[in-house]
Amino acid sequence: MKTKKKTKSFSAPFFKIPPARKWLYIFLSSLSFRLLPFLQISQALIMAPKRKLPSTDDEISCPTSTTAKRIPKSLLEVIEPVVIDSEKDPSWILDEPIADSEARVNWPERYQLIEKKEVEVLPMKKNKKYVEEEEIIRARRHFRRAILDGSITYNLNDDAHVQSDEEEKPFICKIIEIFEGSDGKMYFTAQWFYRAFDTVIQNHDDLIDDKRVFLSDIKDTNSMDVLLNKLNILMIPLTENNEVTETCDYYCNMSYRLPFSTLEALQPSQCVTPEQRTDATLLDLYCGCGAMSTGLCMGAQLSGVKLVTKWAVDTNQYAVQSIKYNHPETEVRNESAEDFLFLLKEWEKLCIHFSLIECADSEKYKNLYGMSVVEEEAEDGSDETDGEDGGEIFEVEKVIGIKKGEEGGLHLKVQWKNYGDSHDTWEPIEGLSNCREKIKEFVVHGYKTNILPLPGGVDVVCGGPPCQGISGFNRFRNTKEPLKGDKNQQLLEYMKVVDFLKPKYVLMENVVDMLKFAGGFLARYAVGRLVQMNYQTRMGMMAAGSYGLAQFRRRFFLWGARSSERLPQFPLPTHDVVNRGNVPVNFDRNVVAYEVNDTVKLAEKIVLSDVLTDLPVVANNERRAEMPYDKDPETPFQQFIRLTHDGMLPSPNDSKSNSTNDVLYDHHPLNLNKDDYQRVCSIPKKKGANFRDLPGVTVNGDNKVEWDPNIPRVYLESNNPLIPDYAMTYVRGTSTKPFGRLWWDETVPTVIGRAEPHNHVIIHPNQDRVLTVRENARLQGFPDYYRLFGPTKQKYIQVGNAVAVPVARALGYALGQAFQGHTSGTDPLFTLPSGFPKPTF
Ligand SMILES: C[S@@+](CC[C@H](N)C(=O)[O-])C[C@H]1O[C@@H](n2cnc3c(N)ncnc32)[C@H](O)[C@@H]1O
Repeated sequence: MKTKKKTKSFSAPFFKIPPARKWLYIFLSSLSFRLLPFLQISQALIMAPKRKLPSTDDEISCPTSTTAKRIPKSLLEVIEPVVIDSEKDPSWILDEPIADSEARVNWPERYQLIEKKEVEVLPMKKNKKYVEEEEIIRARRHFRRAILDGSITYNLNDDAHVQSDEEEKPFICKIIEIFEGSDGKMYFTAQWFYRAFDTVIQNHDDLIDDKRVFLSDIKDTNSMDVLLNKLNILMIPLTENNEVTETCDYYCNMSYRLPFSTLEALQPSQCVTPEQRTDATLLDLYCGCGAMSTGLCMGAQLSGVKLVTKWAVDTNQYAVQSIKYNHPETEVRNESAEDFLFLLKEWEKLCIHFSLIECADSEKYKNLYGMSVVEEEAEDGSDETDGEDGGEIFEVEKVIGIKKGEEGGLHLKVQWKNYGDSHDTWEPIEGLSNCREKIKEFVVHGYKTNILPLPGGVDVVCGGPPCQGISGFNRFRNTKEPLKGDKNQQLLEYMKVVDFLKPKYVLMENVVDMLKFAGGFLARYAVGRLVQMNYQTRMGMMAAGSYGLAQFRRRFFLWGARSSERLPQFPLPTHDVVNRGNVPVNFDRNVVAYEVNDTVKLAEKIVLSDVLTDLPVVANNERRAEMPYDKDPETPFQQFIRLTHDGMLPSPNDSKSNSTNDVLYDHHPLNLNKDDYQRVCSIPKKKGANFRDLPGVTVNGDNKVEWDPNIPRVYLESNNPLIPDYAMTYVRGTSTKPFGRLWWDETVPTVIGRAEPHNHVIIHPNQDRVLTVRENARLQGFPDYYRLFGPTKQKYIQVGNAVAVPVARALGYALGQAFQGHTSGTDPLFTLPSGFPKPTF
């Protein structure tokens, strides 16, 4: 095809960007496909007048091109160009057009006559399409390159800066289509690169190198005159140290996709074959009683990986007792995460000192803690017990423990020769410098038995750093600088442990408030830190009820996977569930759920009767920590929850696959005081009953409680009122929670760590008591074989704090799949095998 040259003029901007509200359309259409009954779309989003790359669906608009800057005209390159006969834009010199037949195959929609058409915009789920209606700009012809003002040649697949608002940094794109529209204007299709600021990381972009950009799958059509200049963007593999050796304008080693805020290596790693990946180790930080790691290990095992909780850390002495009992294979440490990190660093030094691990600067550790590598043992090995001054000399029999001392510094636990266990003491390591051999024995043995993890020696770190600073109940929340002060420090500690150990995978859990508080500041920080450490990340919200519990309980989860690993997906629900709670603004695309028009047959939702009916009747003052079952299981849930550990990990031919637990543990309630017990006894045994059913209360038109002036206030034997004042004033009199009785056909919103019936619904449907520890544990999916330790209140705390076991189990399966390299493609979600975790349930 021939074209003729045309003179160019530079009067005014030639092109106006088509008012493509595409970002908005993408956003809205995707929302309509999610199962989000409580969706909130902020008005600001819809009205967004300026373009900002959508990071978490927050601001979606399109480029503005009215002030396009022109590059000064310079000599034409000698490329024998042809100039388009475009009447409207004389400034573009174009190459020979792409053959019409080829262009029609590559961009068919540009050549169709119909004005409106459905196009695939964001492929997100297998066999699913996000579909949008949009105005397609028709093409006259397509080109492989175009020369602007005779000075810059833009080829297909070139990277370029695109004009943004004046004060903002220019946008960055890859040019994936160049064409002349039917209106004679020149257009290109951009595939956008995101700066860290444009991703979910947002204001934490200071964590990320300025030159690092992320390739999105967001594409749209723009007028050619918003192009500013060409760029050299290095597309490089994601590595652990993120080395960039060549000069470039930017570099890119990860993609960014809006669904589940996914930051992933451009190419999935060619990781090891499944046969090589049968075993894995787990560190459970902030382990509580160990629910999260219990579930993760079960799920991983169901996918074929023997994941073992090798180490666990928590400050709560009772929680630690529980995890120790249930996980005899675990090195459980009752200390803070910060002390643990200190210890890990010292342990590494000790291992270098004793030449157990290599280190480039091992010289540095030769005289560690006053111990010299040159042996300085007692000369004759005599076991004299008297010192020169006649005082007794104590001799170290054995070193048996290691920790950070209360006043700092490394301490070792010493067993003294000729003294019993009761005389064991913790000693500063510096004071034991002449016992190098004994210390060596301990360290060598500890190294062989893995008493502490070393960098690179941990496959998975899981845990939910407590962030008290985000609780809605905390009046002293620091919304401006959430990481200042000590309330949210554990998030920093958690990331420091990850940074030190460099596990293959990270799974962080937290309350959904982490996404709500200060615009998701802490969640964004967590992603930023992981990406800074070159982890791939994906975050989602999961409802426990969707995995077979009579509890809604939504939690936030963040995956991290090292560059060499596949990024785990999120497991789609197995069970129907009643949805509750708002989706945090800007995180609509992070809900792990089926789409509204999916016709998946989920298992029936689980309700209280499924969970509780086989348990013995117990009274308010029941104290026994163990008792026999007095009934057979009555529902599939009860059958499943009564299985032993082996029974829950079935292999069809295994004789143990249906073995059941035969002792019922922890089926005792918080023993209510006399007043509360009398109150509970007064609550009728019917659905929805609560303190409002007691004499003397009326409910006004605003659903607020008032005292009934016709009924005198009722008093208990103690002279305290039957209805306490706090029940009447709770949530300004609107709440139905005080002394609320659960009912058989219900699910509970969230099991919490308190059992007092004062401000949440926890009274048994037909017994006069609150739910027992075991009943709460079942609502959280703890197997019946899982025992809890400590005073009753502490047991409730452990259960209430836990990650629901079925959720962790489903995530464990996802982890196992990724670990074995079974995940492929970019789908953030996957379907658990049918009948997961056990076909009978
Ligand atoms: C939400 S709970 C963890 C629940 C656990 N993931 C489970 O599934 O059972 C948080 C735990 O962090 C512990 N904790 C709080 N501060 C800590 C710290 N500085 N270091 C270690 N553990 C801490 C608490 O004792 C509590 O058990």
